[in-house]
Amino acid sequence: MVERRSWAEPFRIKVVEPIHMTTREERVRAIEEAGYNTFLLRADDVYIDLLTDSGTSAMSDRQWASMMIGDEAYAGSHSFYRLVDAVQEVYGYEELVPTHQGRGAEHILSQILISPGDVVPGNMYFTTTRFHQEYAGGRFVDVIVEEAHDPADLHPFKGNIDLAKLQAVIDEHGAEKVPYVSFETNVNMAGGQPASMANLKATYELCRANDILVMLDATRALENAYFIQQREAGFEDRSIGSILREICSYSDGATVSSKKDNLVNIGGFLALRDPELARRARALLVAFEGLQTYGGMAGRDMEALATGIREMVATDDHIRARIGQVEYLGDLLIKADVPVVRPIGGHGVFLDAAAIVPHVPQDRFPAQALTAALYVDAGVRGMERGVVSAGRDPATGDHKYPKLELVRLTIPRRVYTQAHMDVVAESVIAVHEQRDRIEGLRFTYEPEDLRFFQARFEPIPA
Ligand code: F0G
Repeated sequence: MVERRSWAEPFRIKVVEPIHMTTREERVRAIEEAGYNTFLLRADDVYIDLLTDSGTSAMSDRQWASMMIGDEAYAGSHSFYRLVDAVQEVYGYEELVPTHQGRGAEHILSQILISPGDVVPGNMYFTTTRFHQEYAGGRFVDVIVEEAHDPADLHPFKGNIDLAKLQAVIDEHGAEKVPYVSFETNVNMAGGQPASMANLKATYELCRANDILVMLDATRALENAYFIQQREAGFEDRSIGSILREICSYSDGATVSSKKDNLVNIGGFLALRDPELARRARALLVAFEGLQTYGGMAGRDMEALATGIREMVATDDHIRARIGQVEYLGDLLIKADVPVVRPIGGHGVFLDAAAIVPHVPQDRFPAQALTAALYVDAGVRGMERGVVSAGRDPATGDHKYPKLELVRLTIPRRVYTQAHMDVVAESVIAVHEQRDRIEGLRFTYEPEDLRFFQARFEPIPA
């Protein structure tokens, strides 16, 4: 019998958006003008845009229909109450604090919980999350398992928290200096790597025993749920929806960027269990985001979001096709011996720049240089996730040198076809074959905070 493993999409295409094709000469000029930073390219100069899976999803016909019935009332919009229902049902949190996107929720959470001098342990940093923790006066401490720092390690749950590391942080600083543990599901910077249910549960139990809260970054919790279903004993017959709810049950709240799992182009929320914490969050919300019943979103945004949240768990086929497509691209590169982070993650394929261009030292930004070279080859836009993204240590002023020096090829949801993935693989393989020609970069402009967004570079001639 033929093994049936196709992940084909559970949808068909009703509207198409033509994309602009460019020549190599145009791309050479465009990347120079963009200071070798793909964030600074014009989207019109990109053929296949794998910069991010954030806010780049294709909405369904039902989501577009929802936009039309959005209620734009300033206060008490019915779209807000539909969103509350969806979050309560799908994630299981009672209190909803809507925000314009994920970092808005991170800002408010950090401000209500972190005091200057506090320590916030987490499973690898995310750029905006750590920024807000530090901005509130806290210090982020990485407690992810060691395996996460090795691109080749095949551990099935490289997003797990190392409980011994967490215990050591508590012992060193005292539980009263640890307001919460910041637990990211399907860790972005580690390559889209999941945590196991056993680890989520054990972390929650350790925290409860020490009176420490657990706050999830549940931005990609759906993708994490899929890996638990595929890899963790006892979950193979559980629905994605029920696994997602169980993930959230081991936490006191969550920040969510709805621009990922939730299938919308803008939006996010902070969800909590404790009504008193929610009250404090809303007090800041009205100053920084918007009134408590819209946060930073229009009524139509909340309506499309409520529909997206229900749609993502309505069947298991959606997430299977989404991650199936990512794994398809990853498998093509593995077969061609291109070094990538393994196992292939949930939202993208991460090229191991340290292994691909070992002749470029880390202070010459190998992943940034490889990202630029890839764009020039065929117009595929990726993102640096290495030393440029890590930034400088506020205490010493030196670069933070992360062990992972990666180029992220992030796959938008429901946007590109299998043929697009073939084009991407061909381009990556072609660039890999000519990797000796890639030279390092130096800054011509370096912003102080979150420097990767706006930095400019120039090549350092050999
Ligand atoms: N948390 C995680 C894990 C994220 O990946 C992001 C955004 C955020 C929080 C912040 O959410 O963008 O809505 O303010 N990640 C995007 C990315 C930018 O490309 O990975 P936001």
